[in-house]
Amino acid sequence: MRHIISAKQFSNKKMLDAVLFLAEQYEGRHCDHLKGHIMASLFYEASTRTRLSFESAMLRMGGTVISSDHAGQFSSAIKGETLEDSIRIIGGYADVIVLRHPDEGAAERAAAVSDVAIINAGDGVGEHPTQAFLDAYTIKRELGHIDDIHVCVAGDLRYGRTVHSLVNLLSERGNVAISLASPDSLELPSSLKTGLRERHVLGGEFYCLEDALRAGPDVLYMTRVQKERFESLALYNEVKDAFVFDESMLSLLKQKAVLMHPLPRVNEIAPAVDADPRAAYFRQARNGLPVRMATLRYAFMPDD
Ligand code: NCD
Repeated sequence: MRHIISAKQFSNKKMLDAVLFLAEQYEGRHCDHLKGHIMASLFYEASTRTRLSFESAMLRMGGTVISSDHAGQFSSAIKGETLEDSIRIIGGYADVIVLRHPDEGAAERAAAVSDVAIINAGDGVGEHPTQAFLDAYTIKRELGHIDDIHVCVAGDLRYGRTVHSLVNLLSERGNVAISLASPDSLELPSSLKTGLRERHVLGGEFYCLEDALRAGPDVLYMTRVQKERFESLALYNEVKDAFVFDESMLSLLKQKAVLMHPLPRVNEIAPAVDADPRAAYFRQARNGLPVRMATLRYAFMPDD
């Protein structure tokens, strides 16, 4: 069994390429590779795509699923049980646990006490590594490669865990440029930014979307402003519409560029943009299925 906690575990080119290769093999397939295995999905935070694609992936591989969504309200957490105790118990019922939790570091805490593989499906403002796998898979399918590209991540870089994982996944490869575009108050955490600088992959820093587009990224990765992470609604309201991609910006996007978003979108990309062939976010969400099949397969491989 292998825990999947941070995208940093996969910054080694070979490891990521292996997951992406496996995902390609699982495109459109049903198989019995995980027959006899049980996956528990333990979600303490809202989810549509991540939970359902993991569950569908497990079923498509011949496995079965037990699940506790709204785990904060409907599991023993409401009675005061610690995450660690819940993990110890659920590990007795399932062979892998897919965990989403509001606290940064929760997946690591879970892994420390777990007898079965833990897959981090989002730990607060920390990371969301399997989203980064499907983002990389999408870039590869849309552009044909994930090397020698300029990726601009835009929007809520401070609280957006999908960005944190994507940056961790791509930056160590060393042959990408990553530009940052966000309002002042939603900048990428300094530890991550320092990492980009040290690896010489930090592209431009922008405080306006048009400027970021003029720098000609191959991938524009838009994100939702993470309302649930703000200290007050007033602070959220100040920035919620600061970065919106609308039809007028399509002409600034390179002809071969890809427009991505982990979804859900609120207001960050106007629906009028959806019909443009460069708008890849719905294809990106669909890619979650083969990528999560590959992820589960990986989690069940013996640790070496
Ligand atoms: C993301 C998340 O939960 O971090 N959603 C997802 O898994 N696709 C992004 C978000 O909620 O904004």
